Amino acid sequence: MQAWSDKRRAEGKKIAFVPTMGYLHAGHLSLLEIGRKEGDSLILSIFVNPTQFGPTEDLDSYPRDLDADLAKAKEAGVDAVFVPQDSTLYQDNYQTFVKLEKLPNHLCGLSRPVFFRGVATVVTQLFNITRPHVAVFGQKDFQQLAVIRQMVADLKFGIKIIGAPIVREADGLAMSSRNAYLKPEQRAAALALSKTLAAAKTLVAQGERQTNVIQQKAREIFAQYPEIEIDYIELCDPVTIDSVETVKGETLMALAVNLQGIRLIDNTVLIP
Ligand code: PAJ
Repeated sequence: MQAWSDKRRAEGKKIAFVPTMGYLHAGHLSLLEIGRKEGDSLILSIFVNPTQFGPTEDLDSYPRDLDADLAKAKEAGVDAVFVPQDSTLYQDNYQTFVKLEKLPNHLCGLSRPVFFRGVATVVTQLFNITRPHVAVFGQKDFQQLAVIRQMVADLKFGIKIIGAPIVREADGLAMSSRNAYLKPEQRAAALALSKTLAAAKTLVAQGERQTNVIQQKAREIFAQYPEIEIDYIELCDPVTIDSVETVKGETLMALAVNLQGIRLIDNTVLIP
């Protein structure tokens, strides 16, 4: 993979890269579409990264369908698909991890303590292997995007990071490989996330600025779905991810819930 990229670079080609864990859906395809426009050569990686899953999380059951992914990649005009083995990225005696000091101490980092360390480490490796000029990440995982931007700036990777908008199903549900876990009867409850974000936007449009009022409204909506357990409802600064008490400038509203064992996240940027 490195040799492939070096050859393209020597030819003066601009390399765009989209890292994923596979089971591709329209959200992933939107990143590939951006990558296709940004670069002369487009690389997709598919790797279910074990170091970003906690011991009780869904590493083993994470949905996989390589044949379908390869067909979608071809359709999307991908030039190279990188599908490493676990033992290629984490060889015997592997011991180097990338850990950010502050950004992971919020939101998903609190309930998933190894998550961002795993993401930052694997993305560092994938960047070093694919040697891209530009990489595309989704705002669906807003905190992850913030972590990557911070890491790239701190460690001087010299890679342009593009954040892509959240792609949703027609009914508002943010697309996710984990939606494959949802049973039909859980689908209605899953809509509580996008409904909550829409209600928050309406409140802000009506002049509401108090975080606690917006959070209370969100809790009332979730209360209608007893199968949902809230992990967090947070309003925060979109760069530092620090909590805010009022919606002054652009504010990230981020949600994570547990729906009968299925973790769902969603977010939006509230603009006063
Ligand atoms: P994965 O969940 O497969 O997501 C790959 C990329 O697709 C991420 O940048 C994610 O934000 C983006 N994405 C997922 N759903 C989206 C949607 N509905 N709309 C727009 N973009 C969406 O995120 C990971 O994999 C991993 O943590 C990874 C970065 C590959 C490191 O292992």
